[in-house]
Amino acid sequence: MSGGSPFDPVTPQAAAISHLFLLSLLLLGAILVLVTGLVLYASFRYAERPGEGAGDEPEQVHGNRKLEIGWTIGPAVLLVVLFGLTVSGMHRADPRVPASRRPDLIVVAHRFWWELRYPELGFTTANEIHLPVGRRSLARIESADVIHSFWVPQLGRKMDAIPGHPNLLWLEPTRPGTYLGSCSEYCGAQHAWMRLRVVVESPEEYEAWARRQRRDASRPGSARAAAGAKLFASRTCVSCHTIAGTEARARVGPDLTHFASRATLGAGVLDNTPAHLAEWLANPRAVKPGIEMPDLKLDAEQVRELVAYLEGLE
Ligand code: CUA
Repeated sequence: MSGGSPFDPVTPQAAAISHLFLLSLLLLGAILVLVTGLVLYASFRYAERPGEGAGDEPEQVHGNRKLEIGWTIGPAVLLVVLFGLTVSGMHRADPRVPASRRPDLIVVAHRFWWELRYPELGFTTANEIHLPVGRRSLARIESADVIHSFWVPQLGRKMDAIPGHPNLLWLEPTRPGTYLGSCSEYCGAQHAWMRLRVVVESPEEYEAWARRQRRDASRPGSARAAAGAKLFASRTCVSCHTIAGTEARARVGPDLTHFASRATLGAGVLDNTPAHLAEWLANPRAVKPGIEMPDLKLDAEQVRELVAYLEGLE
């Protein structure tokens, strides 16, 4: 898995940003070395030597047209060059979207998790985006509450998620892998735990994943899981979550139809294991204070039943 360095871009858009940054760093670094070098040179070359008095100052110069023209034109040319590089970098980092192009993916930021709708494919998931390698996908970034910001450094620029104002973002990964992202606009207590993962895979793997996501949830595979399903339907779970193929159709919290297929829970706060899910269900706000999901006051057996049910939702 990749740590998410913007210096290891996997899309042409992220590469444009990374190259612009490195080029600017190089140019500005050269200026830093030049100016610092000249200051140091002058400090030592013209320092007062032992035995020299006030009358031994070097020749004083007033005005030098050539130098003045040079240090005006030099920086001006540099600024124009940087401006040109920046404008071209911005165009490459954020190519125009044709008006008729429909989004492949709708990302809805919530406090504090990501809802992911695939409108063309007809399913919804959470916190884990899958994309086919080598294809240009269009994401529409929205918010359900406050301002958030979508950022997967290796895939490109940040894009704000603003209530009532959808923004568009190209995602064009050229290398398979798992890339980490996070919310990058402070949005409340759990801003830091609003992570997302982008799994980039071959078109075949992607199609297979999409086919599985489109299916209804699998039936409970054991008596305990069946008890969990019943509990889920009878408690408040059902008024916030969707599990396709059951009565649960609410869209307040994450869609759990294929919950067990995701690598993390709570938008990255814990790896998705039965032990972690039990910890989460026992009291979600102890794991992630400030979230919407309430403490359901479940006893240990009820937690075990729900874990058996939810971890069966591949
Ligand atoms: Cu959402 Cu910060």
